[in-house]
Amino acid sequence: MYNEKVIDHFKNPRNFGKMENPDGDGVAGNLVCGDMMELFIKVGKNKKKEKIIEDIKFLAYGCAAAIASSSMVTEIIKGKTIEEAIDLSNKEVVDSLGGLPPIKIHCSVLAADALNEALYDYFTKNKLEIPEKVQKAHERISKSKEIIEERFKGRI
Ligand code: FES
Repeated sequence: MYNEKVIDHFKNPRNFGKMENPDGDGVAGNLVCGDMMELFIKVGKNKKKEKIIEDIKFLAYGCAAAIASSSMVTEIIKGKTIEEAIDLSNKEVVDSLGGLPPIKIHCSVLAADALNEALYDYFTKNKLEIPEKVQKAHERISKSKEIIEERFKGRI
């Protein structure tokens, strides 16, 4: 069902764990299955003085595809500029994994959404202007989280 790359990222997830004092902390939930993911970022600067994602970690309560996608997101994004992180698409994550079974594509959205939420948290905490793409995605993700919380009330 899964290719070797996906299995490798699932069995040996990169950058897995909690981060102390992150600059951004994002949580996203999957409407289809109720699985959750939390992603942490540390922001630094590169030699050109551009803001970059200096460090990134994640915790996931999801299936193999969700964990592999999260692991891949951290690999792609570590060291990238904030703008590049904002532009990350779900398709890029799936392509970098060499593909996912069609019924598992929704699992990869969780990782991209958690990254968006970590960026949103970073912009908010630092009173920075929130890019439109991040704001719009945040509104959609927040609605999904409300639905999941309502659906799983008393069970989580
Ligand atoms: Fe829930 Fe994959 S089945 S994230």
